[in-house]
Amino acid sequence: MALTYRYATDSDVDAIVAIEESAMSNPWHKDNYLEAIHSDHAFVVVASEDDAIAGFAVFYLTPPESELPDIVVAEAYRKRGIAKALLHYAFDQLQSQKVDTVFLEVRVSNTPARTLYDSLGFEEIGKRKYFYSNPIEDAICMSYRMEE
Ligand SMILES: CC(C)(COP(=O)(O)OP(=O)(O)OC[C@H]1O[C@@H](n2cnc3c(N)ncnc32)[C@H](O)[C@@H]1OP(=O)(O)O)[C@@H](O)C(=O)NCCC(=O)NCCS
Repeated sequence: MALTYRYATDSDVDAIVAIEESAMSNPWHKDNYLEAIHSDHAFVVVASEDDAIAGFAVFYLTPPESELPDIVVAEAYRKRGIAKALLHYAFDQLQSQKVDTVFLEVRVSNTPARTLYDSLGFEEIGKRKYFYSNPIEDAICMSYRMEE
């Protein structure tokens, strides 16, 4: 079955939380996703296959800027281009909301995520010392300027 990319709804949130908890050391909670889904200043996109959620991403909106605070692809679906396709889908939504630049932070040691962002054209703009806890680690700050 082909993957579908779309906005998340309330009924996706339990699956999103399960994926988040399997991957992140300081996971977001159910209420955080519900708030993002219902906010005018955020959105959540998912990749789904049949009834299963393969991955998701959260964006905060402060046009012309946006922030990507959370993206996870479930382990069984990784390295198939899903994160990249999900971000391309999200970028289309962001452009229709007058966003031109996306910011994010990533752990220095997170090679899969850094490879993903590099391959999309994100650029390093700085470093935040001891930004993360559990374990403590520096963050690389990145930005992506979307094409007009
Ligand atoms: C980071 C993550 C979202 C990538 O998802 P994915 O669907 O496997 O990524 P894709 O298949 O779209 O790969 C995109 C690029 O990253 C590369 N990549 C993906 N996983 C990789 C790995 N483990 N090692 C090296 N490169 C990797 C791919 O080769 C691809 O590069 P290319 O376009 O040059 O060929 C996934 O590994 C994940 O959920 N990790 C845990 C959560 C996390 O760290 N989130 C980011 C927080 S900042």
